[in-house]
Amino acid sequence: MQTTIASEPTSTGEFDYAMLLEQARAITAGEPDLIANLSNLSALVYDQLADVNWVGFYLVREPELLVLGPFQGKVACIRIPFTQGVCGAAARTHETQLVRDVHEFPGHIACDAASNSEVVVPLIVNGRVVGVFDLDSPSVGRFNEQDAAGLTQLGRFIETLNWASL
Ligand code: SME
Repeated sequence: MQTTIASEPTSTGEFDYAMLLEQARAITAGEPDLIANLSNLSALVYDQLADVNWVGFYLVREPELLVLGPFQGKVACIRIPFTQGVCGAAARTHETQLVRDVHEFPGHIACDAASNSEVVVPLIVNGRVVGVFDLDSPSVGRFNEQDAAGLTQLGRFIETLNWASL
């Protein structure tokens, strides 16, 4: 008999992002409260992905400014202007940022000194950035293109939540 282990956390790009998306749908189904949903989503992703030390959201509370939202990990910087950091770059460009080594990224903001690589997915609703989804790892090169694509797909789902309530 063949045994398949679905959704086993790996750092080799073989992680089952389709399964993670299903889990994200399941835990948010029928719940209109955005902050509650983002809180549980950060916990889900932090639990499921191997080798991550920070997973969470920054929300656009004022024009061109990201403010800390629900997350898992160490205490983090609270306010990030769109002009700064990997998060700001994602918000400015509307493109997912895949950073192999944060120390090589000009303007990277070091919230947790243990972080060495990062993915930031911009969240865009009705053409406007409403926040970013940020993941840090202590390992250089933790995230590959497949991770970035899977997390971007998850971001597309997160955009369908109740952002009007923010
Ligand atoms: N490193 C981010 C700041 C947020 S922390 O990683 C939680 C950045 O450069 O934007």
